[in-house]
Amino acid sequence: MRALTWQGKKKVSVEEVPDPTIQEPTDAIIKITTTNICGSDLHLYEPLSPFMHKGDILGHEPMGIVVETGTETGDLKVGDRVVIPFQIACGHCWMCTRGLPTQCETTQVRDQGMGAPIFGYSELYGQVPGGQAEFLRVPQAQFTHVKVPDGLPDERFVYLSDVLPTAWQAVEYAHVPDGGTVVVLGLGPIGDMACRIAQHKGYRVIGVDLVAERLQRQRVRGVEVLDLTEHEDLGEVVREMTDGRGPDSVVDAVGLEAHGSPVNKTVQKIAGLLPDFVAKPVFETAGVDRLGALYTAIDMVRRGGTISLSGVYGGMADPLPMLTIFDKQINLTMGQGNVKRWAPEILPLLLEGDAFGVDTFHTHSLSLDEAPDAYRMFQEKTDGCVKVVLKP
Ligand SMILES: NC(=O)c1ccc[n+]([C@@H]2O[C@H](COP(=O)([O-])OP(=O)(O)OC[C@H]3O[C@@H](n4cnc5c(N)ncnc54)[C@H](O)[C@@H]3O)[C@@H](O)[C@H]2O)c1
Ligand SMILES: [Zn+2]
Ligand SMILES: [Zn+2]
Repeated sequence: MRALTWQGKKKVSVEEVPDPTIQEPTDAIIKITTTNICGSDLHLYEPLSPFMHKGDILGHEPMGIVVETGTETGDLKVGDRVVIPFQIACGHCWMCTRGLPTQCETTQVRDQGMGAPIFGYSELYGQVPGGQAEFLRVPQAQFTHVKVPDGLPDERFVYLSDVLPTAWQAVEYAHVPDGGTVVVLGLGPIGDMACRIAQHKGYRVIGVDLVAERLQRQRVRGVEVLDLTEHEDLGEVVREMTDGRGPDSVVDAVGLEAHGSPVNKTVQKIAGLLPDFVAKPVFETAGVDRLGALYTAIDMVRRGGTISLSGVYGGMADPLPMLTIFDKQINLTMGQGNVKRWAPEILPLLLEGDAFGVDTFHTHSLSLDEAPDAYRMFQEKTDGCVKVVLKP
């Protein structure tokens, strides 16, 4: 089959690789019909390179049709139309039964000290072949799927793999009070969807980014937008907009590739240039994250408010202003999106109609062969690119 593979820093290519096969009774193979590129893939493309291996298949936002199953896949049958959650989880362990499939105790990547494995997401998350390919082996398939009905286009459902549940969780974890205000930092696919969900829940939404098209995408939907590049003191601007107090909640949908903290960018660059055996420890322990967005969130959230991190961070010794966090009594919530925790709440909203505008959410629909160009375009944010769906 054809698959998009990691070949080196900022280098991906479509290669012919062996078809996946059933290895465990709980496996299924799906033929992929739509598969997306995610902001998280950009971390593998560049800063998380030390954890990648040449030939790794990328991708964790696929959907398709089941073409083969093992003997223990429960009610999952050949011919079923399914969206595949980005994390692999069993559905029956202590964590899964408490709505935390990202921490699944059956599948945790224990040799790396990490939670549930993620498709196509480096050795940190189990080095599982990903879904930017023609076919995908789905482990723990009895639980690692969301069945969707026929009759509507893939675009209606494909974001259940990651963007919708992640953004939904970001807003849930933000604990916005009724009628309250939430600032969403970063208006890539995750922040964009978080704005839509927060609006759906009736909150006042303020969105921040520095890319004109991304700001415009929210402005036309009624979000109050702020261009990062136009304001020296964003915290002050937002306080002025919120009775001098600051917003109840801030969703950080930026993560470790934030613009605006050059010192950390330098370290990140240096780590990226080092040989793997040096770069890994440096990356994991030396606070190489760019913390610009998080610092902004800490500054702007009101006292006693909540910061919900959905942007991915990766350092093990990041310097944090604990005095401020403690004194302002800030609640900090975070984590990978627990897809199956939220999918049952979201799916009915997609079946009733297009509640979140997902049918037209993508800016680019391309073939798998065009994926290398798409990665470049998405990283450089050219051609108005916000979300790419690939059709293998
Ligand atoms: N928690 C999860 O389960 C989960 C799932 C998917 C993605 N993510 C993470 O969410 C983040 C966003 O993903 P995405 O797909 O939307 O990617 P993206 O890279 O397209 O979005 C990031 C956006 O943040 C903007 N930005 C950069 N610095 C900023 C700053 N200082 N202030 C405000 N905006 C800033 C960028 O211009 C960009 O539009 C990434 O870190 C990604 O890894 C997390
Ligand atoms: Zn994703
Ligand atoms: Zn489990």
